[in-house]
Amino acid sequence: MKSTQGKRALITGGNRGIGFAIAKGLLAKGYEVIITSRSLDNAQQAAQKLQSKVIPLELNVSDDSSINQTLKTLREEIDCLDVLINNAGVYPDEGVNILTISRELLDSTMNINAFGAIRIIQAFLPLLEKSHDARVVNVSSDGGALSDLSADVPSYSLSKLALNGATIMLAQALHSQRIVVNSMCPGWVKTDMGGADAPRTPEQGADTAIWLATEAPRTYSGKFFRDRQVISF
Ligand SMILES: NC(=O)c1ccc[n+]([C@@H]2O[C@H](COP(=O)([O-])OP(=O)(O)OC[C@H]3O[C@@H](n4cnc5c(N)ncnc54)[C@H](OP(=O)(O)O)[C@@H]3O)[C@@H](O)[C@H]2O)c1
Repeated sequence: MKSTQGKRALITGGNRGIGFAIAKGLLAKGYEVIITSRSLDNAQQAAQKLQSKVIPLELNVSDDSSINQTLKTLREEIDCLDVLINNAGVYPDEGVNILTISRELLDSTMNINAFGAIRIIQAFLPLLEKSHDARVVNVSSDGGALSDLSADVPSYSLSKLALNGATIMLAQALHSQRIVVNSMCPGWVKTDMGGADAPRTPEQGADTAIWLATEAPRTYSGKFFRDRQVISF
């Protein structure tokens, strides 16, 4: 078995849902985990539930000053990051479609779900570059796959389409640094976002992200996965 001694992973939106399940799974594999949440209280509460060494930090992915502050705080604790999981996301298209959605809602969903991930990778790059096995996982959705785009879920679908596009570009841009970047879809998962009728548990939803973060062949980069299989963008 590969040693995970000293390996570190940071998860955005790690205080609940799929992000929390990813944190739990990575801890079980021996990773040190940094749980970030837009509320420090929520990050601390999530860390306490895990009863292991977890660093809780505040991070609002749509706010550059929050990203910079988190990086500054983190650098006081660590100088290298092996895994970055861009998991934070919103699903806010209740009652709107592509013909009625406002610019404000388009802006905010794109900022959180897509641009946040790009800005975080840019900011945390100096820490990722120090790792010999750096991996970035973007938690996307098949709702952002070209064949599944829905006019009734406009900002969410567009944001995940953009996130998948960013995965392709970032994989290309980071190839020479040997940093791999992939997107994954967790399936329909029972969380606050997925609702009570969803068939998958957060642990099932987290599985492919954990696999990509730890054991997936490093030859995969710039790909989109579901259930550990490559799917079409
Ligand atoms: N559940 C599903 O069926 C499903 C399906 C496909 C894809 N996904 C994707 O999986 C990821 C996790 O979803 P989930 O089901 O676990 O959702 P969730 O239970 O609603 O959790 C969303 C997480 O994102 C955080 N978040 C939202 N906006 C943020 C911001 N601006 N900055 C930092 N954190 C922010 C939330 O923080 P707060 O607690 O502060 O709100 C929360 O931790 C999302 O990217 C989602 O699109 C989910």
